[in-house]
Amino acid sequence: MTIKAIVFDAYGTLYDVQSVADVTEDAFPGYGDIITQIWRIKQLEYSWLRSLMRRYQDFAVVTRDSLAYTLRCLGLQYDAATFARIIDKYQHLALYPDAVGALEAMKDKKLAILSNGSPDMLNALVRNSGLDRVLDATISVDAHKVFKPAPEAYTLIEEVLKVPPAEVLFISSNPWDACGAKSFGLNVAWIERVTPQAMALACVESETVAPLTMFKTLRTQMDELGVVPDHRIHGLSELPALVSARS
Ligand code: LAC
Repeated sequence: MTIKAIVFDAYGTLYDVQSVADVTEDAFPGYGDIITQIWRIKQLEYSWLRSLMRRYQDFAVVTRDSLAYTLRCLGLQYDAATFARIIDKYQHLALYPDAVGALEAMKDKKLAILSNGSPDMLNALVRNSGLDRVLDATISVDAHKVFKPAPEAYTLIEEVLKVPPAEVLFISSNPWDACGAKSFGLNVAWIERVTPQAMALACVESETVAPLTMFKTLRTQMDELGVVPDHRIHGLSELPALVSARS
């Protein structure tokens, strides 16, 4: 089946969530790494817990609540301005360096984002990074009030783009998202940015395991969920060749 649309996850796939580390370190010197990792781990956890509890609040709320949790559990005092400065980074996350080139090379396809982000967060981020010039749509799960990897979230792709799952290639570096999309019925390419070999090395190289290493073991390695993505690539730059091979 020919691929007509390429749909990307946003946070961690096109945009580097680790790029918040400069503001977290600036606000709390010495704590940047631990704040960055706990924040992201809790942000995802809260999205899944709220979906299971059927207490949906949008991802902007989840992102604020998970930052508040992180700072509280580390015993850090802060004022509203510091909190707002850190949160604001979510509208200015760094793009992975190969993102724009990959998108521009696939302009003949429909290109979109499907993200757990709220519409406001995503629209600001896409505009600030200039991706509004290459994307045909930015789709937020907010329309269905449930987070990925719930199947109802992935149905939005066909609803908005009018392209059936069999003709969509979904791209995520988040293993849980790649598994969710595959389980739903999309064609999926998972971006393995951190190899198990690199992981093993990072663990033996230092006496204490850094928060970032811990994060990578939890959130960058393929999950054991009984589904396997169709393709495994190592960066967005490998995508155009994969897509033309499937066209
Ligand atoms: C996204 C996050 C949660 O959906 O990775 O963009």
